[in-house]
Amino acid sequence: MKIFYKTKIEIEKMRAVNLLVSNVLDVLEQNCVAGVSTADLNEIAIAELKKHGGTSAFLGYADPPYPAVLCTSINDVVVHGIPNKNHVLKEGDLIGIDFGAFKDGFCGDSARTIAVGCVSEEAKRLMEATKQSLTLAIEQCRAGNRLQDVGFAVQSYVESFGYSVVRQFVGHGIGRSMHEDPMVPNFGERNKGLRLKPGLVIAVEPMVNLGTAEIDILDDGWTAVTRDGKLSAHFEHSIAITDGAPWVLSQK
Ligand code: MF3
Ligand code: CO
Repeated sequence: MKIFYKTKIEIEKMRAVNLLVSNVLDVLEQNCVAGVSTADLNEIAIAELKKHGGTSAFLGYADPPYPAVLCTSINDVVVHGIPNKNHVLKEGDLIGIDFGAFKDGFCGDSARTIAVGCVSEEAKRLMEATKQSLTLAIEQCRAGNRLQDVGFAVQSYVESFGYSVVRQFVGHGIGRSMHEDPMVPNFGERNKGLRLKPGLVIAVEPMVNLGTAEIDILDDGWTAVTRDGKLSAHFEHSIAITDGAPWVLSQK
């Protein structure tokens, strides 16, 4: 494991690219309405990225190369849904939008789950609990705490509602690459794992299922779906550990 601790100047650069990511997500969020396709959202993301002078962190990533700049994950899709002109949003859907960019040598990565129009109470509760689990996890991102305190915060909160935490995908260190050490699971035990130090920057990204934790990957090699077909939600922020309070780089 090789952890790259960032200097103040590097963290300022990471703040800049993460604000870019946040601004693009704001525009996308406004466009998550019935009748819009996920390919339309991808086009909007491409245009915004160009406007702000960044490059995509997702396009061409890994193998098979990820084919878009955005992940669009509707309802039972957990993460890594691929934009498609035939996937048109409809009232009542939950959509996760996940966007990552590079600027000035550093990566920003953030995701949100958004309700399309009016959604069921069940969907609303899942979404709110997942968002709150990220807030509680961020609260643990302090020097002196340990890495599993972060996962414990997510897991203990969402499991209290009977939801389950996805284990096959985890958060990650982030910096000059999108994925750096350490891995940041959304589960864990109190007071275990790496001691957090100033300069560590991590992307924390709870993926929470309404039903069981099991997932499957579709034949496209990317799309992760819940095995039981039930809803899933995902939120992500990139966070810097400082001498004081956690700095949520991807939040205004
Ligand atoms: N936020 C996701 C992650 O951290 C997005 C990756 S999508 C990919 O892994 F296409 F780039 F893989
Ligand atoms: Co990520």
